[in-house]
This record gives sequence, C-alpha cells and structure tokens, in this order.
Amino acid sequence: MVVGAGTMGSGIAQVVAEAGITVTMVDVSPAFLERGLAAIDRNWERATARGRMDEAQVTAARACLQTATDYEAAGAADLVIEAIVEALDAKRALFAEVSRIAPVDAILASNTSSISITQLGAATDRADRVIGMHFFNPVPVMALVEVVRGLLTSDKTFERVEALARRLGKTPVAVNDFPGFVSNRVLMPMINEAIFCLGEGVAAREAIDDVMKLGMAHPMGPLALADLIGLDVCLDIMQTLQRDLGDDKYRPAPMLRRLVAAGKLGRKTGEGFYAY
Ligand code: CAA
Repeated sequence: MVVGAGTMGSGIAQVVAEAGITVTMVDVSPAFLERGLAAIDRNWERATARGRMDEAQVTAARACLQTATDYEAAGAADLVIEAIVEALDAKRALFAEVSRIAPVDAILASNTSSISITQLGAATDRADRVIGMHFFNPVPVMALVEVVRGLLTSDKTFERVEALARRLGKTPVAVNDFPGFVSNRVLMPMINEAIFCLGEGVAAREAIDDVMKLGMAHPMGPLALADLIGLDVCLDIMQTLQRDLGDDKYRPAPMLRRLVAAGKLGRKTGEGFYAY
C-alpha cells in the first residue's frame, strides 16, 4: 500500500505496479487519486510512445494498481509506504493508525526527506519494522532509494526493503537516521547557497544554474532544481537541518523565505525562481 497520491506517492505506486506487485494507492479524496492516476497514465503513454514499455506491459501494470480512500487495504499489506505531507504530527498519526491495521510482520516505510524514522517508529507497535524509503523526483527516472535505518530498525527489515528496492529497478543506499539523511544534508545547503548568491547579486539566476550545469555536470542548475522540488519543501528541510543539527550554517536564505511567503513555490504554483 502507498499512502499519498501526490507527485511522490503516485510515482512510487507506478514503479511498484510496473514491477508486477499489487499496490493500493490511498489518498483522502477521490480527486487526489484521480490526479495521481492521470499522472501515472501520462507516464505510461510516454513510455509506450518511446518504446520503453509495450501495451501488454502497461495492461499488466495497470491491473496491479488499485486505489482507495481508506486504510482497509493495510490489513493485507506486506509493506506500507507513506508519502503524505512533510509534517511530523500527520505522519505519526498515520503510522499509529496503520500499525493497528497492518499484519504484525508488515513493514511500515516512510518516503520522508527529513523527518526522523526513529520518531515515526516510536508511534507504532513495531519500531524494528519501521524504515525510510526515500525516493527521488521524478520517481520513475531517478535510480536511487535512500534506505534509512532508524535506531531500532532490524537487519531483517533493512534486507527486505533493500531487496524490494532492487526489484523496483532502483539502487538502494544505506544511511542512518540523521536530519536530512545524506541526500538533503548535502543537496539543500548547495541549493540554499545558490539562493544566497542570487540574493547578494553574485550572478543572475541563469548564470548560477549554468555554472553548475556546465561546470559540474549537474542535469539541472540548483535554482531550477529548487523549483522542481518545491520552495516550501526546500525551506522546510533547511529549517529542519538548522533546528535538529543546532547549527546556523544551515540558516535558510532570506530570499527563499520571501518567495515561500509570497506563495511562489516553484513549478507547482507556476512560478518560483523561473516562470512556468
Ligand atoms: N515523470 C516521469 N518521467 C519523466 C519525468 C517525470 N516527471 N520527467 C522526465 N521524465 C523522463 C522523460 O520521459 C525522459 O524519458 P524518455 O527520454 O525515455 O522519454 C527522461 O525522463 C528525460 O526527460 P527530458 O528529456 O524531458 O528532460 P531531461 O533530460 O532534462 O531530464 C530530469 C529531466 C530527469 C528531471 C533531469 O533534468 C534530472 O535528472 N534533473 C535532476 C532531478 C533531481 O535532482 N531530482 C532529485 C530532487 S531531490 C528529491 O527528489 C528528494 C528530496 O528529498 C528533496
């Protein structure tokens, strides 16, 4: 079961269904589910147009994918992957509820990008079977799953999730439960520094992005990438790093705060550092 039909949740449900594993994608409203299914369908249309999948493969994948607006499917799940809003209270409530429904040996995973897996585990009856499965946007394209071990995550849970990530065609990389894990501890300060450069007038936005694309072979510049990730998400992660590591070197750039306050969150609102 995958909880959340947003960009990440629908992407995760897509790759699970493509691997031939039955999956129920859950969200609170039918409208959110429809939006998630439409995104998956667009990806499958593009995959067939490009010859990466044939009609039979799409039909088989679609047959593996179900949707629901409640957690009933957790009762028969081997694994629940949570991909809801990045808010500790909402995630803890979800983990507590799902742990009451899911079979005793089911694993509960979170796609969180910075919330403590150990804290989520503490909200359940099974901290040894709680783990982070951190996917990257766009999920069908990016090869990595950061597999995050909480303080109490068992070796068996880690091994099962690592094997599943490989079955999904991804490369699992083991990390421990620290704020931002490895990915966002390294990526977000780079993005934040690019925003400081823009704010201080070191260079224009295109120039900053070109330096990192052409000089460091990044597929996108940091400002364009921030727009893809969502500026609210970037701000939230910087605040988590600053607070939980207790170090002001992670202070968010003032321009990032201003753009978020103005509702300019990147691609999802049509404007961030660039207009879409
Ligand atoms: N969903 C599915 N497939 C997509 C896609 C999407 N949203 N966007 C692009 N693709 C596919 C395209 O279909 C295309 O495949 P085909 O050639 O087979 O059709 C392939 O990806 C390349 O796409 P494009 O040619 O359109 O564009 P591109 O070559 O510029 O690649 C990109 C686009 C894959 C997004 C690339 O720019 C890239 O890798 N950018 C960096 C992305 C990144 O760093 N992501 C991590 C963000 S951090 C995060 O997610 C975690 C966090 O905690 C914040």
